[in-house]
Amino acid sequence: MTIPVLTIDGPSGAGKGTVSRAVAKKLGWNYLDSGSIYRSLAIAVLQQAVDLEDETAVVNVAQAMALDFDCHDELVVRLDGEDITAQLGLESTGNTASIVAALPEVRHVLLQKQKDFKRLPGLVADGRDMGTVVFSDAEYKVFLTASAAERAGRRYKQLKEKGIDANLSRITNEIEERDRRDRERKTAPLAMASDARYIDSSDMTINAVIDEVLNLIR
Ligand code: DC
Repeated sequence: MTIPVLTIDGPSGAGKGTVSRAVAKKLGWNYLDSGSIYRSLAIAVLQQAVDLEDETAVVNVAQAMALDFDCHDELVVRLDGEDITAQLGLESTGNTASIVAALPEVRHVLLQKQKDFKRLPGLVADGRDMGTVVFSDAEYKVFLTASAAERAGRRYKQLKEKGIDANLSRITNEIEERDRRDRERKTAPLAMASDARYIDSSDMTINAVIDEVLNLIR
């Protein structure tokens, strides 16, 4: 029996997480937040003060880390038994994740961990290379993007709402820097699969995006 897979790729802040979770819930499918795997590795590497340029050392951490994803109402992630959920969303975690994710051997080691999420009745996989590499034979593919200014504005609003001090121009610079790194890396760069549906969410509500993705499947 084939297991249906929907991939949602795109740059950070395009709304992939919100859309993927909502669609997965609506369909009753499993959900893979592949960015959180790279983010978990970033946390492990930062905790162990590993040199980010030492690829062998980073790969060793990737191989050794035991990850446990508990995805009921909210996603809870444990790294070697420790609940790291609160650290996953930090800007420092995301920036380090983007650096370790550029290492080819790291991506190779983390490939199977991602493929293991493909289980019945189906999977919604969100990331950068879900439709191009990890699930290249997926039946449904979306490339979800928004302008850098719009994505920075959303992130700024999110942080402010959480009571976290934020600076819009710094966030814009970080988003542009992260986009550049994710797009220009040699292995599995952020790119649209030729058979993906392109959605620019800059001027769309989140519900309109969710409907468009659900229509693709129905
Ligand atoms: O989606 P996110 O912001 O949580 O991802 C954090 C970083 O992880 C992102 O900057 C690049 C990397 N990443 C990746 O290289 N491939 C994926 N499939 C998902 C994330």
